Amino acid sequence: MDLVKEIKRLKKEKNAVILAHYYQVAEIQDIADYVGDSLQLSQQAAETDADMIVFAGVHFMAETAKILSPDKIVVLPDLKAGCSLADSCPPEVFEKFTKAHPDHVVITYVNCSAEIKALSDIVCTSSNAIKIVNSVPKDTPIIFAPDKNLGKYIISQTGRDMLLWDGSCIVHEAFSIDKLIALHKKYPDYKIIAHPESETHILDTAAYIGSTSGMINFVKAHPKEKFIVATEAGILHKMQQEMPHTELIPAPAKEDNTCACSECHFMKMNTLQKLYDCMLNESPQIDVPEEIRKKALIPIARMLELSK
Ligand code: 13P
Ligand code: SF4
Repeated sequence: MDLVKEIKRLKKEKNAVILAHYYQVAEIQDIADYVGDSLQLSQQAAETDADMIVFAGVHFMAETAKILSPDKIVVLPDLKAGCSLADSCPPEVFEKFTKAHPDHVVITYVNCSAEIKALSDIVCTSSNAIKIVNSVPKDTPIIFAPDKNLGKYIISQTGRDMLLWDGSCIVHEAFSIDKLIALHKKYPDYKIIAHPESETHILDTAAYIGSTSGMINFVKAHPKEKFIVATEAGILHKMQQEMPHTELIPAPAKEDNTCACSECHFMKMNTLQKLYDCMLNESPQIDVPEEIRKKALIPIARMLELSK
């Protein structure tokens, strides 16, 4: 069976839109209607008039799409495609934490569950985090969760004294600083660019720090440069499509990592076959209890409003 042809047929038959994150495998990115970062994908999910949203990403992303478009069918190719950051923040523990600091505004990175969003005042993504934090009056204390690395980066950029949740992304914490420095010594004319989910010692080496779309735009804006890319390796596909002549090297991971470059095994659970199956069967679907959805929608809508 020609899966690409069949997926295209199902897309028409079901009036479906395929949204894919930059960390998806190349063949999924290539068949998607839209490929983007977390903010762009949630904007697309809010605006689409399709009947079915096929979310080629991880669970929290599909959940955000369902929160924004409750009347649409939202399918995720593999229900087990989770996220270490989202897993690092259990709702019962987080609720106790927020209750212990009732004067704090709660800002959560979009990489968290619907239950956590329902406990938040504003959601942010890596592309708008600084803007969202700066939108909070200077004398108001802030809780930032779940990514401590992104939180530390925001503190360094805004000077805000935020209370950080102790969560992190396994992929961005897998980069080896020793190997990165050795690689940069070997290729001194390459510029290091990094995602802010990376640890501070990695960010300190970077010529540019930004979200996945920010990193792609930076590469496009510097056609004469070469880059070492410190984020999930799937992004190299889009970078290379946009800039076929730019030389790119994925940042190296620590010895004990399963692959030489950093790949998110959650993102890579989605395959073309599973994408086809979920469209055909309209399953697995994402559902969010209405009470949680209504509460989670408020901080997401605030973010989208502030990001216009
Ligand atoms: P962005 O694409 O928004 O930068 O997020 C990166 C990420 O880790 C998604 O899981
Ligand atoms: Fe979560 Fe990290 Fe994978 Fe993104 S790359 S989905 S933050 S584990």
